[in-house]
Amino acid sequence: MMSRSRRHSQRHRTVLTSTIQTIGIANGGGDCPGLNAVIRGAVHAAILEHGWRVIGITNGYDGLIWPERTVPLTMDAVADILSRGGTILGTTNRGNPFHYEVEEDGKTVTRDYSLTCCDNMRKLGLDALVVIGGDGTLAIARDLGRLCLPIVGVPKTIDNDISATEVTFGFDSALHVATDAIDRLHTTAESHGRVMVIEVMGRDAGWIALHSGIAGGVDVILIPEIPFTIETVCKKIREQELEGKKFFLVVVAEGVKLPALDPAGKPFPAPRPGQVGILIGDAIHALLKKDVRVTVLGHIQRGGSPSPFDRILATRFGVKAVELIARGNFGHMVCLRAGEIESVPLDGVVGKTRLVDPMGGIVRTARAVGITFGDQA
Ligand code: F6P
Repeated sequence: MMSRSRRHSQRHRTVLTSTIQTIGIANGGGDCPGLNAVIRGAVHAAILEHGWRVIGITNGYDGLIWPERTVPLTMDAVADILSRGGTILGTTNRGNPFHYEVEEDGKTVTRDYSLTCCDNMRKLGLDALVVIGGDGTLAIARDLGRLCLPIVGVPKTIDNDISATEVTFGFDSALHVATDAIDRLHTTAESHGRVMVIEVMGRDAGWIALHSGIAGGVDVILIPEIPFTIETVCKKIREQELEGKKFFLVVVAEGVKLPALDPAGKPFPAPRPGQVGILIGDAIHALLKKDVRVTVLGHIQRGGSPSPFDRILATRFGVKAVELIARGNFGHMVCLRAGEIESVPLDGVVGKTRLVDPMGGIVRTARAVGITFGDQA
């Protein structure tokens, strides 16, 4: 019996307009809810609209270094993945082909496999490659694109910090998880009259903390973009206590910059992700002598099913990536602007982080409803 993908591609072959026959799809960096939805969207559009063959590159760029690690992406291969978290291609945040770390004679050495990737792309018959990734993965995509193969990029990160797009898929799903966690902490904080500190992801930018903090109605939001002091945070808590409030919620982005000294006048240690919330919780306890509990949400924010918003955005990004290839619009990244899916040159995107504007509307909204950022403003 003829497979679904062959039936579809034969039906549509008559309307082929481009010289493209085969495309690859790769994803790199940390996973993110919606990756599978991008893959499915791109595969469907490539097969149904253009009759192209699609090859999946597994584990970041590893599938380009070892082509036996590629998989055919047919309609059947992407059936039922729209709502699934993670990525069917596997991923890694190591494995830059330009600086690939390998073990040789008991030592770690760096090798340049970029030309191997180019050779293998030719051997695989790839006419173009869709790369889904964050800043690091997209920078490699741009460089590989310059070296050998037409590439289009799709921005990905729960942190929502890629420039040129108003939002990345994955952010909304992570926001739902963080907000749900804050809601749950709210009720137990209230029962015990405690200070609850919750550390959320956001290595360089505070988008998840800012949005979940507003959505969860917290008292304090600490983000990398706004320097804070423990004293200001505690002053705010004391003031509210005098007004009769008995419990407090503090949301902290993992990338927040700690003040130089802790309340005892000792330097704060340089924290790893997952530790900053604990250090801040200890410091609040040291000053207020209140019961403080700390929750580190960690990778729970990255796992699980994408939200409907992310499924739709990811599907639109995947379809647009195929459209860019069909139009020969290479070296571009898809993006969301004023509700429309557009594209921008990758060159203008990589190396730029989209940070929260401390004077922007969303921060002002938070301040207007009484949230403090621990600063003097
Ligand atoms: O960049 C997205 C992100 O989720 C960051 O918020 C976080 O610091 C990082 O990935 C964690 O990466 P890993 O999975 O390597 O621990």
